[in-house]
Amino acid sequence: MLKGKVAVVTGGSRGIGRAICERFAENGANVAFLYSGSAEKAEELKAKLLASGVKAEAYKCNVADFNEVSDTFKRIVADFGTVDILVNNAGITRDKLLLSMREQDFDEVLDVNLKGFFNTIKQVYPILAKKRAGKIINISSISGLIGNPGQANYSASKAGVIGLTKTVAKELASRGVCCNAIAPGFIKTDMTAAFTGENRLVSSIPLGRMGLPEEVASLALFLASPSSDYITGEVIRIDGGLAM
Ligand code: NAI
Repeated sequence: MLKGKVAVVTGGSRGIGRAICERFAENGANVAFLYSGSAEKAEELKAKLLASGVKAEAYKCNVADFNEVSDTFKRIVADFGTVDILVNNAGITRDKLLLSMREQDFDEVLDVNLKGFFNTIKQVYPILAKKRAGKIINISSISGLIGNPGQANYSASKAGVIGLTKTVAKELASRGVCCNAIAPGFIKTDMTAAFTGENRLVSSIPLGRMGLPEEVASLALFLASPSSDYITGEVIRIDGGLAM
């Protein structure tokens, strides 16, 4: 489905990002992924991707740092020749009710979850515009659609991602580049592992369970593939019906 395409995935070494890297590689994409945490996990994933018979490389990069992102994308283009698909997935939470949320909690979340997406799109924008093809997929959240107590910073960043997605979609549509957002609900990853009210939460999900990273990866694959060529500026919920 993605044979020979070059995909860049941020926050690739675990959770949803890792599942996307694996799904893309299984479908023939060469995968460059950015990570900020464990180099060991990144190497382990790289080896797994290489075993699918595609090219794969891991790049340590803080997506919130514009210059670091710029340097990293220069290396990716040197290593892979181009970029066809960008998945902005790296994200963090600093949950607190707004009353006790510090300025730093707000800034850190916005810097990674929103400015980080700007930083990477800025790098691929001229490449995709020039080749008159490409896919940008931004991981938002249902928190950005409906809000969530304790997540003023996170919800604002994820709502911002939706505005960013629609604007990039409009700017690049005439160049044949599609830009869409995915809005997951509760997905089983490290990010939600610490969640204590799981039973109460699960009972409020119409489909009665949390989602899996692999399920989000299947949606990302669809949005990265030619099957979605007539879809742009869309926000697709994958939440078991939670935010309908
Ligand atoms: P996770 O915490 O397991 O993974 C996040 C990844 O982002 C990690 O690999 C981490 O190293 C990376 N990362 C964090 N800060 C970074 C930085 N400054 N530079 C580069 N990489 C950085 O989280 P999960 O659940 O896999 O989340 C992936 C995306 O999905 C995030 O954008 C998250 O907001 C979003 N999401 C997750 C939901 C869930 O229920 N797990 C629900 C809705 C959205």
